[in-house]
Amino acid sequence: MRKVLIIGSTGQIGSELTMELRSKYGNQNIVAGFIRGAEPKGALRESGPSEEADITDPAQIAGIVGKYKIDTIYNMAALLSAAAEAKPQLAWKIGLEGLFNVLEIAREMKCAVFTPSSIGAFGANTPKDKTPQDTVQRPQTMYGVTKVAGELLGDYYFKRFGVDTRSVRFPGLISHVTPPGGGTTDYAVQIYYSAVAGEVFKSPISAGTFMDMMYMPDALCAAISLMEADPERLVHRNSFNIASMSFDPEMIRSAILKYVPGFRMEYEPDPVRQAIADSWPNSLDDSCAREEWGWSPKYNLDSMTENMLEAIEDKLHT
Ligand code: SER
Repeated sequence: MRKVLIIGSTGQIGSELTMELRSKYGNQNIVAGFIRGAEPKGALRESGPSEEADITDPAQIAGIVGKYKIDTIYNMAALLSAAAEAKPQLAWKIGLEGLFNVLEIAREMKCAVFTPSSIGAFGANTPKDKTPQDTVQRPQTMYGVTKVAGELLGDYYFKRFGVDTRSVRFPGLISHVTPPGGGTTDYAVQIYYSAVAGEVFKSPISAGTFMDMMYMPDALCAAISLMEADPERLVHRNSFNIASMSFDPEMIRSAILKYVPGFRMEYEPDPVRQAIADSWPNSLDDSCAREEWGWSPKYNLDSMTENMLEAIEDKLHT
């Protein structure tokens, strides 16, 4: 049975990943790591152990790994792309110095490590459509710089020290439990809240800007199944392209209109987010993930939309 520490357990991914891993491996085997000011609440706090786990404090992380005999670390701490442009120094400290701390602890204390990479690990001179697994990676955002360097560092620790590092390049993640903050793809979450609230949605991203997106249940399944995959089959490690849907604001608007006929959207572009979005791929080729560990998403834009609207309706109106 795995003993897992999740760093960043109260964030958009961490909050759902923690609950999913608890239901899979047993509540007591999953430690929810948090930073001061972002303590776990409700079911997340009550269903299992939690500890303050600041990624910039290696002694604190090592103490938790020792106390709970942790063998797997999910490192979900990061600033998202637009937030990282506002605070590049902090983004480096958390994204890369933090990862270095985790990898050193994993080397010394023999843990496997999952760290997300992102579509943000690609840049404007990367092939835009069906972006290959192995291709040009010259991003010009601090978020992208930390992701590419993190991929390289993960592979280095595997090859040099045998640390079992694995990673996927997440697209924009859409979910209704914990909101994302400071990402370029956040609009595709906020649009559903506006639709349910009966508000006019102001899209910060222009029509015709395509990005890869994914519904959270598929993202959780990707992270967990990659960590459970047979290492013999893994040709790649850090990091796998995964994909399930690619759309622009017009397509998500049309998908919502099927369920909310009066929904209205206007454009109010945010220059920072638009520039980042323009430098990212339109869609990724995920065939290596499919071949090497059986990746296969369940949701498309329509099934995700139906599910998101229902869940937000329940959350806001019951
Ligand atoms: N969702 C992230 C962002 O927008 C991309 O990985 O920053």
